Amino acid sequence: MRITFCCTDTKPEPWLQGLQAALPQADVSLWHSGDAPADYAVVWAPPQTLFDQQPQLKAAFNIGAGVDALLALQVPPQTKLVRLDDAGMSVQMAEYVCHALIRHTREFDAYEADTRAGNWSFRKPLARADFPVGILGLGVLGARVAQAVAQFEFPVLGWSRSPKHIAGVQCFSGAQELDRFLAGTRVLVNLLPLTPETENILNRHTLSQLHSGAYLINVARGRHLVEEDLLALLETGQMAGAMLDVFRTEPLPADHPFWTHPRITVTPHTSARTLRSESIAQIVGKIHALERGEPVAGVVDLVRGY
Ligand code: NAP
Ligand code: GLV
Repeated sequence: MRITFCCTDTKPEPWLQGLQAALPQADVSLWHSGDAPADYAVVWAPPQTLFDQQPQLKAAFNIGAGVDALLALQVPPQTKLVRLDDAGMSVQMAEYVCHALIRHTREFDAYEADTRAGNWSFRKPLARADFPVGILGLGVLGARVAQAVAQFEFPVLGWSRSPKHIAGVQCFSGAQELDRFLAGTRVLVNLLPLTPETENILNRHTLSQLHSGAYLINVARGRHLVEEDLLALLETGQMAGAMLDVFRTEPLPADHPFWTHPRITVTPHTSARTLRSESIAQIVGKIHALERGEPVAGVVDLVRGY
């Protein structure tokens, strides 16, 4: 069995060694144009040439959850595109979102400023009912985040394409229920995949439907957010602040206003990192399952876009 590794912005050696150790009978190598045909590919933002030259691939394993970088490519019809299915990401995402939520609602930034100034002063305790948390996307990551937030006894709402039933979460689905979901939300968490349907979904119109003084946590993709609309709504007070992990241009350009905005916290696309050993174990498990002719989780529907 041949496995080719073609991942942009990824140091290849540890992946090649890890895959080879887990599949000792396989020939695992870094992809080069003109290579012999492979059975499987491990990819992140690969060039179209990979698929043009390797039309026989049985599957291409994306080493992330989001497959938006692959949607513009022509993937051969018999090649399954398989995304990472959690692989240690959902607990990281739950940590990040709970941190952002609690930091905001408990006013930890204001406490830090107070204590740095030597000021021992108390703020009014929050009423959790005043901070309903709405999660866009109730997939692998969104469902885990919803459950983690519910543990802190916030009201939790969720929105997905198909109807869901999650204990402790008021679930909405489809375009026709988006307005009701937004109207019930004060802290908005975005965990949607980036598709033609969801691009720019965080805009003046949608963000204006949230409770006044809303807070945005965007951990999905930068192209979900119309950045100038967020800046305008921070000016009016409709938005109280935002914690943003993803941006239309990454790295965030040095002169971007988000860097210095007093009510925006920026992190460098780090909310849920790909964990190498968990990911290799998952990919290898799926290769074994495919070789036995069994179905695997995480196969991307290229028409839906996720
Ligand atoms: P997933 O399992 O595919 O879940 C996607 C969710 O979004 C599903 O609930 C789906 O609804 C819903 N959805 C998709 N299109 C929709 C639409 N048009 N209207 C309403 N709901 C829609 O994806 P995931 O693993 O949770 O990951 C979500 C995204 O997180 C990824 O695509 C990636 O962009 C991002 N991500 C970011 C980081 C980071 O470090 N910042 C790390 C990992 C992932 P159904 O359930 O009905 O299908
Ligand atoms: C990271 O952003 C991912 O999609 O896994």
